[in-house]
Amino acid sequence: MISFSKEDVIIVTGASSGLGEGTALLLNQLGATVVGIARNKERLNKMKEKCKNPENMHIEIKDLTENIETLPDYVKELKNKYGKFRGLAYCAGIVEVKPLQILDLSAMKKIFDINYFAPIFMAKGFADKRNNTGKGASAVFISSIAGLQSDKGMITYSGSKAGLAASIKSIAREQAAKGIRFNCVSPSDVITSMTSGILGLKETKANLYPMGFGEVSDVSNMIVYLLSDKAKWITTQNYVIDCGYM
Ligand SMILES: NC(=O)c1ccc[n+]([C@@H]2O[C@H](COP(=O)([O-])OP(=O)(O)OC[C@H]3O[C@@H](n4cnc5c(N)ncnc54)[C@H](OP(=O)(O)O)[C@@H]3O)[C@@H](O)[C@H]2O)c1
Repeated sequence: MISFSKEDVIIVTGASSGLGEGTALLLNQLGATVVGIARNKERLNKMKEKCKNPENMHIEIKDLTENIETLPDYVKELKNKYGKFRGLAYCAGIVEVKPLQILDLSAMKKIFDINYFAPIFMAKGFADKRNNTGKGASAVFISSIAGLQSDKGMITYSGSKAGLAASIKSIAREQAAKGIRFNCVSPSDVITSMTSGILGLKETKANLYPMGFGEVSDVSNMIVYLLSDKAKWITTQNYVIDCGYM
């Protein structure tokens, strides 16, 4: 059985909603101390109200895109406040469906900021040996099957997720000798506030999922496993969680 102790301090970004919220709650339930990050204080507080061990759930209000290059300093500040990190689950992200004819650079940059640049700079902060617990520390990033198989209108989102998975692989190879593991998960459609916002998704894709759309726990269980010592020999991977969609 997977379990953590309260000395296992784990950052979860995107903790106010969907997959990040589910991951934060599960880690907390299994005994870890969680530092949950997002912009929306009200939703973070609601998440905290649901958690099993509120004394081990800390929330931090932060727009991860506001000064991306300083994110390693931000991780260091959090380390000074909460202790060295045993794990990082990067679950923040946004999606926008926009075909080529209406693409604009500023909207593309906005998506890349939170889906690609911010996770890389959070990884940089986490990989700094002054900020992590050393051998056995583990980081997991949510990419997407959109990074492996693009649909219409997903030019930017798919690019950001493919880039993230490729770059995390490189970081994983750099960090392996230190015993620090980096992996990605690539889910397909899980019903969260993100997918509920995509018009017609449920109607057009229902027949592609013989077991129904994914649930948050289908992804959070895999993230938690990869963060745990049960996965101590697993690094550099990108796990598809898609009910056979691809
Ligand atoms: N749901 C799916 O089907 C699916 C499939 C494949 C991949 N994914 C990926 O999984 C991740 C989570 O998706 P989800 O479905 O859980 O989405 P969600 O419910 O919309 O949650 C997104 C989270 O990201 C946070 N966030 C967004 N922009 C931020 C910023 N600038 N600074 C800090 N936090 C920010 C949001 O918090 P605030 O708004 O409070 O800041 C929220 O907690 C995303 O990367 C998504 O691309 C999802």
